[in-house]
Amino acid sequence: MLKHNFDEIVDRRNTECKKWDTYAADVIPMWIADTDFKCPQPVVDAMVKRARHGIYGYPVNHKNFEQSIVNWQKKRFDWDVDLDWVEYTPAVVPAIVYALRAFTQPGDNVVMQMPAYHPFHDIIPHNGRHILGNQLVPQADGSYAVDFENLEALLSKKRTTMLLLCSPHNPVGKCFTREELAKMAELCLKHNVFVVSDEIHSDIVYKGSEHIPFASLSPEAAANSLVCVNPSKTFNIAGVRTGAAIIPDRHKHDLFYARIEDNKAYGRTIFGTLPIEVCYNECDYYADQLLAYLEDNLAYLNKFVAERIPRLKVTPTQATYLVWLDCRGLNMGPKEMQNFFLQQAKVAMNEGSTFGPGGVGYMRMNIACPRSQLAEALARMEAAVNKL
Ligand SMILES: Cc1ncc(COP(=O)(O)O)c(C=O)c1O
Repeated sequence: MLKHNFDEIVDRRNTECKKWDTYAADVIPMWIADTDFKCPQPVVDAMVKRARHGIYGYPVNHKNFEQSIVNWQKKRFDWDVDLDWVEYTPAVVPAIVYALRAFTQPGDNVVMQMPAYHPFHDIIPHNGRHILGNQLVPQADGSYAVDFENLEALLSKKRTTMLLLCSPHNPVGKCFTREELAKMAELCLKHNVFVVSDEIHSDIVYKGSEHIPFASLSPEAAANSLVCVNPSKTFNIAGVRTGAAIIPDRHKHDLFYARIEDNKAYGRTIFGTLPIEVCYNECDYYADQLLAYLEDNLAYLNKFVAERIPRLKVTPTQATYLVWLDCRGLNMGPKEMQNFFLQQAKVAMNEGSTFGPGGVGYMRMNIACPRSQLAEALARMEAAVNKL
């Protein structure tokens, strides 16, 4: 079996890399959600081989891309997806924009769990819809629970037409249980609210939790949902800007595709679909080894913070490589905290208030990097906090 070296340091500076080329050279970037790991070798080989052909004309669709999505959902989540349910999309956030336009009207309400992935805060109002936030409720151990009572109150509002779910949840690292998802599905059906489930983080789920594709819950949930997928987080291929939507209901699928067509957004690229096919068909080994590596990174971080930076607390992390750090013990406002970590520790993270209500006092730290880099970032944070 192939073995990937996740300890390898790859210099990403000066490669037009958002993560590394945004901040000064003395800053360790632990922010935006891509990994610092090379993508799987079979992907590199396939891309080089295709590049060597030297002709990059219009591709024909033989459904190899769609089949690779079907294969992965079956292998990893035991979900039987029909080939006809799968639609190419130009990555996940654009797919959500087309879904907003397909399934809601200007002036409608879209419900999402807060705090929420920051682009969701833009795309909903930018398309003339309103955000209704359902606050995730911190528990005694720092983990989060869903407030179902308030969720139903929001879903039952007259102009609420969509629940935008992030499953697993970025930024709090929550993996929703089957019971929680089933309850959401039931409430959405009851109040005639369509569900868009962004499952981009579904491969990164730690021991003790399990990812359940929303549309796999029941035939009724399938008929009332669209699931967004993308191997970009797992295999570090976000720059190829390609993803897929899975829409089991034919009529809903047609509505969605009409928006894709209106915007002429169906033009797939050979360097977008090829790496996804290779990841999903040949690179299970990489996803398994990545998860084990991240699990160890998470354990390292948990131990380090508990023993050496006790003024910070790590939110129990069930999923994603984005750790929600409770920094309220530092008693700083959002700007001050962002500047503190950036200027004193020389570590760039995402500041919590950018994720909306419930985010103040938190920082989101990306731990998908070689352990040596994580260790250096934590040591810098420890030194900076100790000087306060
Ligand atoms: C929840 C979530 N959805 C979508 C994206 C981005 O997806 P894409 O690059 O496919 O638009 C991210 C990236 O961090 C994310 O965390």
